[in-house]
Amino acid sequence: MATTTIRKAVITHLATSPTDVSNITLTSASLAAPGRKQVQVRVLYSGFCGADVNMAHGAYPLQRRTPLTPGYALVGTVVGLGPGTSARFAPGDTVAAVTVYGAEAERANVAEHLLVRVPAEVAARDDLLQQVTALALDWNTAYGMVQGAGGRGLVGVRSADVQPGQAVFVHGLSGAVGQGLTALCLLRGAVVYGTASKRNHAALREAGVRDVFEYTNKDWIAAMKAVGGVDAVFDPLGFESWDESFSILKDKGLLLGYGGNQVSLSGSEEEMARSLWPYMGKLVVRGMLPFAGKRTGFYYIKPGTADCQDGLAALIELLREGKIKVPIKAVWDLTAEGLKEAHQSWGKMAGMGSYLIRVGAERA
Ligand SMILES: NC(=O)c1ccc[n+]([C@@H]2O[C@H](COP(=O)([O-])OP(=O)(O)OC[C@H]3O[C@@H](n4cnc5c(N)ncnc54)[C@H](OP(=O)(O)O)[C@@H]3O)[C@@H](O)[C@H]2O)c1
Repeated sequence: MATTTIRKAVITHLATSPTDVSNITLTSASLAAPGRKQVQVRVLYSGFCGADVNMAHGAYPLQRRTPLTPGYALVGTVVGLGPGTSARFAPGDTVAAVTVYGAEAERANVAEHLLVRVPAEVAARDDLLQQVTALALDWNTAYGMVQGAGGRGLVGVRSADVQPGQAVFVHGLSGAVGQGLTALCLLRGAVVYGTASKRNHAALREAGVRDVFEYTNKDWIAAMKAVGGVDAVFDPLGFESWDESFSILKDKGLLLGYGGNQVSLSGSEEEMARSLWPYMGKLVVRGMLPFAGKRTGFYYIKPGTADCQDGLAALIELLREGKIKVPIKAVWDLTAEGLKEAHQSWGKMAGMGSYLIRVGAERA
């Protein structure tokens, strides 16, 4: 394959304030032929998520230096195979992958082991392709925490292995990951509680959530203690929120943190400068104390592992079978304006579900 010219998003430097989007740009660049064990993918959709926003502010843990191209997950069409690739994929196949970087680009060279096949009947429908893009990161993160293979990682327990009849509490039921957590816990027969903006309460109760609370007050703490506590809490807020979440656990209950969203959602420069690391240490140590009687962990998706690849394949199958429906909150085009708007809108929009960037419509 020859080198091609592509358009891609570039975060040129770290934002200078919570509202600064001058660092979000669209650029033309050369893309080399796929390297060893890489597959070149023409991107149809990229996911858009909190990590993209945090990377623009230098708040994503251990992130690459700028300039960088964000885009944590993609769906696209195989257009070329690098040396050393297997016969698993051929040009024209539709694939999905969690890439962490680089999906907000017209083409990307992706390590073959990160790719998951999208069946032709799913690939034929644009609405399903959008949903697969959201499955790749947002719902796959939820899947790992709800029913992933689990075990213990460096930062504690990885999966709640939610069982029928258990009570769970989901912070941000209406969010991209929150919607995945809600649907998968309900599918497993759990009793689901959580928080969301008032405007989303009716729809969440309609979907089967037992009780929804506003995050602007702490009424949920007393309410969850009054029902005897919960078996698992899924908390993307971090910081002081992990203390509050820990307090509503039943004996042997599990607190799974999976983000430090509290400071990004605050929109305050001072808040965004706070480090999550001390709180992460406290979270993990708490779960190790034998007398605490409760478990803790910080879940992070690990692209390329069996947990991530099998989780995504299982979710695509659930979608193909019509057992899940993934709400899409917003889709922006891969234009400079679209990208800036996505960064400005994150966390502030009405509605529920995942955000996407539409990169291209050309399949072959
Ligand atoms: N560890 C991992 O592997 C992994 C993977 C993916 C994502 N993440 C992390 O997960 C977090 C959530 O990502 P997402 O894409 O699901 O976000 P999202 O779709 O933007 O959802 C944000 C949620 O937060 C709620 N919210 C808004 N303001 C709030 C506030 N002040 N206090 C509490 N909740 C508030 C929103 O509720 P309303 O809309 O109802 O207002 C919404 O439910 C991010 O920190 C992201 O980095 C981690």
